[in-house]
Amino acid sequence: MRWWDLPAVLLLEERMFPEDAWSPGMFWSELAHARGPFATRRYLVAVETDPADGTERIAGYAGLAAVDGTGDVQTIAVAPDREGHGLGARLLTELLVAASAFDCHEVLLEVRVDNSRAQRLYQRFGFEAIGVRRGYYQPAGVDALVMRRTSEEAAG
Ligand SMILES: CC(C)(COP(=O)(O)OP(=O)(O)OC[C@H]1O[C@@H](n2cnc3c(N)ncnc32)[C@H](O)[C@@H]1OP(=O)(O)O)[C@@H](O)C(=O)NCCC(=O)NCCS
Repeated sequence: MRWWDLPAVLLLEERMFPEDAWSPGMFWSELAHARGPFATRRYLVAVETDPADGTERIAGYAGLAAVDGTGDVQTIAVAPDREGHGLGARLLTELLVAASAFDCHEVLLEVRVDNSRAQRLYQRFGFEAIGVRRGYYQPAGVDALVMRRTSEEAAG
């Protein structure tokens, strides 16, 4: 993901996370840490080409932060009309490759307790629930499930 992707990413963000969408500043701040020899972030966009007219569009995006050997899935989202075709799995695979490249021994994430679709995706990749953060998602006050995938789970 580069700064010029942000208008399209922000449109998707507003659509998919209407209650707690990231601001442009949050994306800018993350991208500021995504380049150079001391980068701690990896942000991706999935670009698809329309076979009819050759136009490109962003169909999904995802980001990971890596701090002191722990990766954190910051965001992952697929456009509603592209869900269910494996794009979420591909984005998550790329984030886990990035976590390995950052030498992370574990990857954590938070997911809304009512987001069973995302939870199934994470479980398929070996993430396990390790706790709940009460009222994590504001302003709605929805709880977050904290999930973790360790290097051992990745190997198994
Ligand atoms: C969660 C999310 C990223 C998943 O993305 P996705 O592209 O639909 O994920 P996948 O296609 O890899 O997997 C979704 C389902 O499609 C199925 N699937 C994948 N490829 C398929 C294919 N070729 N044919 C049929 N089904 C397929 C998967 O088995 C999975 O089924 P399940 O939900 O019953 O387990 C997406 O739903 C999303 O963006 N949601 C809104 C934002 C969000 O909640 N993000 C997570 C925040 S923590």
